[in-house]
Amino acid sequence: MNDAHFTPEDLAAEMLSYLPAEFEPKIIADFAAGHGSLLNASFKKWPKAKIIANDICNESYSVLKKNKNWLVSKSNFLLPKSRQSSFYSNFVGDVDLVILNPPFSVRRRDWLIWNDINSSSTVKASYSAIFTLLSISYLKENGKLLAILPSGTLESQRDSLAWDIIKDTCSVEVLKKNHSNTFKNVTVNTVIVLISKLTSNKNSFIKRKLLPKSKSTKLFNIFRGSLPVYKAKIVSNGVPYIHTTNLLENKINIKNFVEKNKSLITGPSLLIPRVGKCNEKKLCILRNNETVAISDCIIAISHSDENLINLLFMKLKDDINTLLKLYIGTGAQYIRVNDLSDYIDTIHL
Ligand SMILES: C[S@@+](CC[C@H](N)C(=O)[O-])C[C@H]1O[C@@H](n2cnc3c(N)ncnc32)[C@H](O)[C@@H]1O
Repeated sequence: MNDAHFTPEDLAAEMLSYLPAEFEPKIIADFAAGHGSLLNASFKKWPKAKIIANDICNESYSVLKKNKNWLVSKSNFLLPKSRQSSFYSNFVGDVDLVILNPPFSVRRRDWLIWNDINSSSTVKASYSAIFTLLSISYLKENGKLLAILPSGTLESQRDSLAWDIIKDTCSVEVLKKNHSNTFKNVTVNTVIVLISKLTSNKNSFIKRKLLPKSKSTKLFNIFRGSLPVYKAKIVSNGVPYIHTTNLLENKINIKNFVEKNKSLITGPSLLIPRVGKCNEKKLCILRNNETVAISDCIIAISHSDENLINLLFMKLKDDINTLLKLYIGTGAQYIRVNDLSDYIDTIHL
């Protein structure tokens, strides 16, 4: 058996509780289903849904097969040939909910290299990141992927390319940090991540890689912070750590400092909340040459010309309602980087 640390029943149910109340998936898949903990919880909640279960292991396959109404397969999800010969390959772009606790052992297999033969591009990342990346293709437009992933995968250098590709077509949110004793017989730091697909293009990330990269015509660089509050190690001597609570009355209110190694932004930049309640007083300018570390709930909009940042600040403030309309979400409100970027492109400066 490979990484058979099955998800406890209560955690599986808790994961589903993070989905919007109105979300009613018709097709649900787990490509590393084990004994089906995540799918059992899903089937309990949505008994009419079509369930797609896959696992590499014989023993798990026979356990999954006991669910007569489920579509069960045994394949190595990480191998293209194995995926293509499995019935679930017919469901690319059709699945409403993918739910995963992918294998992420670091004992033997620290890295995985995924080659896209068509574009001859290579993504080198951890097993869990590649598993997640490959699963995105099966999601339909507005489909969701809930996953238990190793803490730190979103900030890790080694997984950054995989996450960049995922963020091209999806929004990504870390919902919760699990206790390190959540899984039987193993101490492991994990988080629950929710990925929401934004576009309908089947295999869009693969297609994107085939296209020559267009030259960026964007005036501003938009940077999404990546240092969550629970990971911010406060030190006495470091760079200011800026979370949404530090954006007050259009001023950056410095309270805490962190080590100078993650999620760093240097002015001139405009900081705005990515998650949480935004209003015109939350727009704050980071001045030229000032460096801060921003939380994952903040977006920085940067340009080398401070005058342009000042101008953008005024324009966004004057038409704050248009910006506020871009905040979405049924729980905590958030703004997508792509939506913000597209909006900024329309502003005449
Ligand atoms: C951590 S367990 C999770 C099982 C189940 N989803 C759960 O939450 O209880 C990971 C599962 O991935 C399966 N697995 C490992 N490598 C795989 C691969 N390449 N393709 C498909 N399944 C794989 C293992 O057999 C194991 O059942």
